[in-house]
Amino acid sequence: MKKHLILVVVLFGSTLFASQEIANEQGCMECHAIYGAKLAPGFMGASKHALATANPKEYLVNIIKEGSSGTRRKFIDQVMPAYEHLDAKTIEELADWILSLSSIKKR
Ligand code: HEC
Repeated sequence: MKKHLILVVVLFGSTLFASQEIANEQGCMECHAIYGAKLAPGFMGASKHALATANPKEYLVNIIKEGSSGTRRKFIDQVMPAYEHLDAKTIEELADWILSLSSIKKR
C-alpha cells in the first residue's frame, strides 16, 4: 500500500516536472511565471481563469494553439503567440499542467 502511494507521488511529480520542462523549452516562461504577473498572466491565475469556463482544458488548448491578445487589460501591449506548430499531445500536456497549478498554494 505504502509502495503504491510512493509510486503515485513519484509519477505525478515527474509529470509536473516534464510539463514544466516543455514550458521552459517552448519559451513560455519568458513571458509567464508560475505565480504572479511577468509579461503575461501567471499560470496559476490562468488555471483559475480556465476553471471558470465551461470547458477548462479546451479554453487552455485553444489559447495555446491560436494565441491571444487584448483580453487581459494589464497585458494589452503584449501578444501571446500561437503555438499551432506544436503537436496536439504537447499542447494537451501543457494545458493539463497549467490546470494542475490551481491546486498549488502560493508560498
Ligand atoms: C511573447 C510572450 C508570450 C509567450 C512566449 C507565451 N505567452 Fe501565453 N500569454 C501572453 C500574453 C500577453 C497573454 C495575455 C493575452 C491576452 O491578453 O489576450 C497570454 C495568455 C496566455 C494564457 C491565458 C491566460 C489567462 O489568464 O487566461 C495561457 C493559458 C497562455 N498564455 C499559455 C502559454 C503557453 C503554454 C506558452 C508556451 C507554449 C505561452 N503562453 C507563451 C504572452 C506569452
